This record gives sequence, structure tokens and C-alpha cells, in this order.
Amino acid sequence: MSDLANGLKSPLLSHPKLSAHFLRTKNFFHVSAIFVFAILCVLTFIYSNQSVRNSTTQTLKFIPSAYERPLSQRAKIENGNTSHIFVNSRNINSNVRNNQYEGEEEDYPTKKDYRQEIKKVLQETREDIQEELFGYHYPPGISAEKLIPEKGGKPLQSVIITTWRSGSTFLGDVLQSVPATMYHYEPLLDFDILQIRGAPIAGVALKRLKKLLTCNYTGLEEDYLSYGQEHTWLLEHNFRLWNKCTVRPYLCWEPQFLSPFCKLFPFQIMKVVRVRLSLVEELLEDNNLNVRILLMVRDPRGTMQSRRHREWCPGHPDCWDPLRLCADLVADYSAALRLSAKYPKRFKAIRYEDLSLEPYKMVEELFNFFGLYLHPKVVEFLDTHTKNNIGGVSSTYRDSKSAPFHWRTDLDHSQVKSIQKVCKPAMHLWGYVLAHNQTHQRVFNPILPSFQLV
Ligand SMILES: *[C@@H]1O[C@H](CO)[C@@H](O)[C@H](O)[C@H]1NC(C)=O
Ligand SMILES: *[C@@H]1O[C@H](CO)[C@@H](O)[C@H](O)[C@H]1NC(C)=O
Ligand SMILES: *[C@@H]1O[C@H](CO)[C@@H](O)[C@H](O)[C@H]1NC(C)=O
Repeated sequence: MSDLANGLKSPLLSHPKLSAHFLRTKNFFHVSAIFVFAILCVLTFIYSNQSVRNSTTQTLKFIPSAYERPLSQRAKIENGNTSHIFVNSRNINSNVRNNQYEGEEEDYPTKKDYRQEIKKVLQETREDIQEELFGYHYPPGISAEKLIPEKGGKPLQSVIITTWRSGSTFLGDVLQSVPATMYHYEPLLDFDILQIRGAPIAGVALKRLKKLLTCNYTGLEEDYLSYGQEHTWLLEHNFRLWNKCTVRPYLCWEPQFLSPFCKLFPFQIMKVVRVRLSLVEELLEDNNLNVRILLMVRDPRGTMQSRRHREWCPGHPDCWDPLRLCADLVADYSAALRLSAKYPKRFKAIRYEDLSLEPYKMVEELFNFFGLYLHPKVVEFLDTHTKNNIGGVSSTYRDSKSAPFHWRTDLDHSQVKSIQKVCKPAMHLWGYVLAHNQTHQRVFNPILPSFQLV
């Protein structure tokens, strides 16, 4: 090629015949080059398409591919062989969007260093927490020592029970803005797109919730932690943990690190979208725990509209069928009545719409309920997150007053009618008003004001 290019510039080209020959050769060369290039393009396209498709199916179907990973491939620090840890951290590596771990091979620790590393990170976090808690207002008779598990305390545990697309991402982040909070985000992600309404799966699920609330990660290696390595958003939402993970990815899937790390935090929050309310009474009954439970419901028309935009929802009846959603809302209502009579101080139910319309007032109420101090950081979070729409669909930057009501314009009246047809009892219980026709739907107020659980 360079010969040809040089040839084209050579004085020989001044000769007309030679020049014509060269031009023909040049054309021929160009045509073949373009042809070869086109083939390469097609191949590249097919290949990349293939891998995009593979990674999409994996994400969308929530295939717990790590399940299949044999035990022998997992890091077994307790046996004194850390040679696998790097395998694990590579796995994380390939799953983190911005590849922030690249080039950390040399930092891979030996077993002895590894223990030192855990100690170091724990001490670092202890200091972070102490700093964060500076100026925190504790409830009367309570101090940090009484709340921090590693000091023998019982943490305040705030649990949100809700379902997909009901505004809980926002509330979870509000609670996470409280200093020194450990966030157990969607602890049942690996259960796929299904609702847990009873035995036998409820037993496994509740056991998981209890283990996390007591900071016991032992025994979660094969499901929760394996799954998390392939679906890192399981821990990414917990930014206080994830900040440590991005620096030392080999630590973050190990009970030896996670359990003591979790025990540093006086405030533990958990949001669960896959377990129906009646089942979590077990958490309120458990004397080892100190949980308060909030049920958050949303207008089923808003929930269904929001779910339409999620790829993982269609094809899963628990997510896609309004009849199931609304049967759950009815069942949750009767469970809510029972729990609020039995545990008036430890159970509460709210509607997402009320939270959105009056975020400051409602958050203050919620914090009183949870026994949390409305720290300036929380107010700052509300100031920056309730006023305008920034970011994508799962973003919690939003205009909180209009976000819950988009369905009125996004859904046709025929779609609304078909939801209302199966949701009338649920809507009646939770104080949602029926839309009568297309015109009415666009302008009416869909919520009855000042809802109270009666
Ligand atoms: C650690 O495990 C690896 C892989 O299973 C093995 O090849 C290596 O010999 C082990 N090292 C020690 C010190 O046991
Ligand atoms: C943690 O969980 C494991 C497995 O379920 C159990 O054997 C162990 O006793 C628990 N540890 C504590 C401190 O409760
Ligand atoms: C739509 O419903 C409203 C409220 O019930 C009613 O006042 C209005 O007449 C209806 N409009 C049409 C076109 O039916």
C-alpha cells in the first residue's frame, strides 16, 4: 500500500500511459479495500450485536449465572488460600460499567495482607462513621454505643415494604442520606420477578432478610453474594459500602468483610419489593431485631404505567398483570389494618402520592416514626431531589409533585379503564378516585386527600 502511495507521488506518473495504469490499479485497490472493509464492518457488527444481545438477556432475565459457579472457585479466605480472589475481582471488573478496577492486578493482596486490608477498611469506616455522626441528635436515653452492633448495641432498622415502581427508590435514598446508614437494597433481587406471598419460598426469603438485618453474611455466599458479583447494583446502591468496593473489589463479596462492616452502622435500612406485607410480621415478632416497617403503596394506574417502561416486567404476571397487583394491594390493606392495631409504634402505611406532594412534611413524619433525626443532610437531599426532573427513569432527581401523576397523560383512557376494572376494590381501600372518561382523566385529582388507615 505504501509502495503504491509512494508510486503515485513519483515522477514516473507524469508519463500518461503509466499514469493511466496506476490509476486503474489505484481504483482496483480502492474497490477491493472498500470491499474488505465492508466485510469487516459486517462481521464486527454481527459479533458486537451478538455480545450485546447476550449481555442484555443476562441482565433482563436476571439469570443468576453465578449460581452455577462451583464452590471451589469462590474465594475461601478461611482456608488460607486467596488465589481465587482475583478471579472474583475480575468478574466484578467485567461487570462494572466504567471499568474502574482496571490495572489493579498488582494490588492483589496475599492472605496476610488481606486480613490487614479488612482491618484497615473497618478502621477507616469506623472513623468515617464517627465523623458523620458528629452533631447527630439521638432519641432520649440513646447513644451511638447503644445502636452500633459491634459495640453490643441494637441498630435502628427501618424496613420499607412495597412493590416494583412504587416510588421506593426515592424513599430509600432519602433514608440513606441519614449519616452512618447501611442500606440493604433489594435483598431479594436474585428471586427474579416474582412476588412472595407464602410458603415455601417465604421461609427462605424471610431468613435472608433476618440474616442481613443482623449483619450475618455467612451462608449467603452461594446465592446473594454470588448473584451480586454478576449484578453489582445489588451493592452499588449502598454507597457507603460501594465506595470501599471500588477501591478494593476483592473484599466486597466476602462475609469475612461484610459482616463486621455491616456491624459498624447504627442505622440499617432495607427496601423490599418482593414480599407481601402479611409475611413480614415475622420480623416485628423477632426479639433479636429492632425493626420498624413502613408499607408504601401507589396508585395502581401509576404503577402499571411506570412498569410499561421496564424491559424486565412484561412476561412476568406478578409484575405485568394489574389483577395481581391489585389483589396484593387488597391483601396488604388487611394486613396493614392488623399490624397497625398490633404494633402501632412499629408499623405504618403511606401512599407514595402523599409523600411526593408534601415531601418535607411526610419525611418529617416518617422520621418520627422510624426514630431518626432529620439531619441537615436529609434536608439537603430533599432540597436537591424534589424540585426538577434531572436524569433517567430510575433517577431520584425529580419534580416530586408531578412524577406520580404522569399516567393521566401517558395512558389512554381505555388502558386506564382496563386497570380500573380489576382494581376498583383496591383503589377504594387506598383512597384512589376513578377516572370517568378521557377528558376527566387528564385533569382530575386521582387521590382522596388526607388518607388514613382506618
Ligand atoms: C490454592 O488454590 C489453587 C487453585 O485451586 C491451587 O492451585 C494452589 O496450589 C493452592 N495454594 C495453596 C497454598 O494451597
Ligand atoms: C450466621 O449464619 C450462619 C448460617 O446460617 C449460622 O450458622 C451462624 O450461627 C450465624 N451466626 C451468628 C452470629 O448468628
Ligand atoms: C366526563 O366525566 C365528567 C365527570 O364525570 C363529566 O362531567 C363529563 O360530562 C364527562 N365527559 C364526557 C364527554 O362524557
